[in-house]
Amino acid sequence: MFKSVMQLSVFSFVLSLLAFAYALPLAVRDVFVPPVTSPDVGTVWTIGSQQNVTWDTSTAPQNITNKVGQVILAKGGKLDINHPLASNFSILDGWVTVTVPNVQPDVDYTVVLFGDSGNDSGEFAIVPAPTSLL
Ligand SMILES: *[C@@H]1O[C@H](CO)[C@@H](O)[C@H](O)[C@H]1NC(C)=O
Ligand SMILES: *[C@@H]1O[C@H](CO)[C@@H](O)[C@H](O)[C@H]1NC(C)=O
Ligand SMILES: *[C@@H]1O[C@H](CO)[C@@H](O)[C@H](O)[C@H]1NC(C)=O
Ligand SMILES: *[C@@H]1O[C@H](CO)[C@@H](O)[C@H](O)[C@H]1NC(C)=O
Repeated sequence: MFKSVMQLSVFSFVLSLLAFAYALPLAVRDVFVPPVTSPDVGTVWTIGSQQNVTWDTSTAPQNITNKVGQVILAKGGKLDINHPLASNFSILDGWVTVTVPNVQPDVDYTVVLFGDSGNDSGEFAIVPAPTSLL
């Protein structure tokens, strides 16, 4: 039982490595890197709350090949690519609303916006929801 769980997690780890490797060439060939403007250093997200991720689209080139964006949460620079906060929105929107996932509260979270390429936000904190709300 324990062993098969181990194998499963090793398997999904290898899968995520593969997914990352396949995603990489996409990022490399692309040009538009929208700067994430929020969250930023000093931002505090509460687990379970809805938050806006915003970015600057003013530098967008006229013709963008891949307009579908994805927002990935990263902790200490490590991307959680298996659980995107948001996907299938237009990179030209400039913002997307996400629900803060039930992750370990900490102060080294960033979000990475992927469209034509990736740009990471400043480091921000995720805090537990007040117990009165649980
Ligand atoms: C992300 O955006 C910031 C702010 O515009 C910029 O300084 C930084 O170079 C960008 N990062 C990448 C990887 O393009
Ligand atoms: C996110 O931004 C949109 C557009 O500015 C706004 O209508 C919405 O209320 C915002 N949502 C949150 C949770 O701040
Ligand atoms: C963008 O694409 C349109 C239609 O394909 C074309 O007319 C226009 O010249 C292109 N603009 C740039 C900057 O490449
Ligand atoms: C993405 O959004 C488009 C337009 O709203 C929709 O047609 C499509 O089915 C969505 N794809 C996924 C994978 O959710």
